[in-house]
Amino acid sequence: MTAATDGALPPWRQRLRGALKREGRQVSARWLQLATVASDGTPRVRTLVFRGWNGADQLELYTDGRSSKIAEFNHQPQVELCWLLTKAKQQYRLRGTAAQVAVSPDQAQWRSLSPSGRALWGWPHPGQPFEPAAPFPQELPEDAPVPDHFVMVPISLQQVELLDLSHHPHQRLLWRRENGWLEQRLNP
Ligand SMILES: Cc1cc2nc3c(=O)[nH]c(=O)nc-3n(C[C@H](O)[C@H](O)[C@H](O)COP(=O)(O)O)c2cc1C
Repeated sequence: MTAATDGALPPWRQRLRGALKREGRQVSARWLQLATVASDGTPRVRTLVFRGWNGADQLELYTDGRSSKIAEFNHQPQVELCWLLTKAKQQYRLRGTAAQVAVSPDQAQWRSLSPSGRALWGWPHPGQPFEPAAPFPQELPEDAPVPDHFVMVPISLQQVELLDLSHHPHQRLLWRRENGWLEQRLNP
């Protein structure tokens, strides 16, 4: 085990920051896969946009409060995220806990979205049968009221694992919050 480096950010955040820098302006560098467990015990996975950090080890996502994942968080708040950074050839697996009750974001988070990004929250209930007559706006202005179903989901991370294919042999590193994010090297 290697001691966590001093400084504000856990060591895995520093590595992730370096990998994100290498991706440049690639939009897909902010896409990650979120896995949950449904109430019948079967797995669910989908892509979400990484929205930012809150403190050293809480990650923020935005979603529709009417979507299935919210019921899944309430049933089982433990989640895993998979974040692939292709240029760096790095896969991050982040385990954490989604907030039980989604927090209503303030107006600034709503305004931070593009008009077309905001529009999705003006669409009908996700996952319900398609109704051609229902409204599907292409844009929503920043002064549109924040819908009740616009929710920010904070994920508090407990464990991070990195697999880095750019070295021989591949590097697999594990960090846990419970031991101060000490770095442990594992076999790939
Ligand atoms: C590139 C991409 C980015 C996405 N970003 C988000 C997002 O930030 N938040 C979100 O709720 N859904 C996002 N989605 C849609 C989800 O993958 C998913 O279809 C939706 O949230 C419904 O999921 P659920 O029924 O499992 O709750 C994105 C999809 C793609 C393809």
